[in-house]
Amino acid sequence: MKQRRIAILLGVLVILSCIFLYDRLWGPKSESSLDEHLINDFIKLYHSSGIHYRTRWLGIPTLENPCDMWAIQEIITETRPDFIIETGTYKGGGAVFYASILQNSNPAGKVITVDIKPQYDEAAKLKLFQDRVEFIEGSSVSDEVINRIADRIKGGKVMVTLDSDHHMTHVLNELRLYSKFVSPGSYLIVQDTSHNGHPLKTDYGKGPMEALVEFLKENKDFERDPSREKFLLTFHPGGYLKRVR
Ligand SMILES: C[S@@+](CC[C@H](N)C(=O)[O-])C[C@H]1O[C@@H](n2cnc3c(N)ncnc32)[C@H](O)[C@@H]1O
Repeated sequence: MKQRRIAILLGVLVILSCIFLYDRLWGPKSESSLDEHLINDFIKLYHSSGIHYRTRWLGIPTLENPCDMWAIQEIITETRPDFIIETGTYKGGGAVFYASILQNSNPAGKVITVDIKPQYDEAAKLKLFQDRVEFIEGSSVSDEVINRIADRIKGGKVMVTLDSDHHMTHVLNELRLYSKFVSPGSYLIVQDTSHNGHPLKTDYGKGPMEALVEFLKENKDFERDPSREKFLLTFHPGGYLKRVR
């Protein structure tokens, strides 16, 4: 009798599992879950093609994608910061891009960009870079770098974009240090929140997304602004933070 009951129970479990699997794989999907799959598949396709290694602004390589660049362009134009701080300069393409937009939205605006390794020699030949970009060599989280930035931006309206070492500990450290610089109404952009399976680089380990989630638990001055992801393709999902107070 007992064995029969167990067999029936197991049978029911197998049938329920089959129904669940069928529904997940072939069952009708809501429009939004279909869209989400489509978008994630496109982001993976875009990333796996390596186009971001062949993307340039005014001839200078940047690892950004055009949709995020456009979203950032809108943020700069709307908020007109006096200073844009970028951690992670790489070849300088991002810095030159921010400088080009600032040139029109705030002619006095400057970009301060930090990297442990200067590799921006091509960008440095551009007049735009010479006029508007200030490079600081060092780790973005070192006391020396933080003090230099704090001195430079005094009294200005500041926007920050974090794009250096993407491991969680480093990004969380940056978030705690650089959030203080961001002016109310301005943005703090946490780049590459797509790492660690969101939806890219599944084996990365804890990265910007995990840092961001932790940061938002402890700091109530910032809120995610999903309207900045309207172009659908983004490497920074949930990473556009607005300082609301
Ligand atoms: C993703 S790339 C930056 C891309 C650049 N923002 C762009 O738009 O093309 C990351 C850069 O962060 C730099 N980096 C790594 N660790 C760093 C740290 N602790 N402090 C500052 N920069 C760092 C690397 O040298 C590298 O150039």
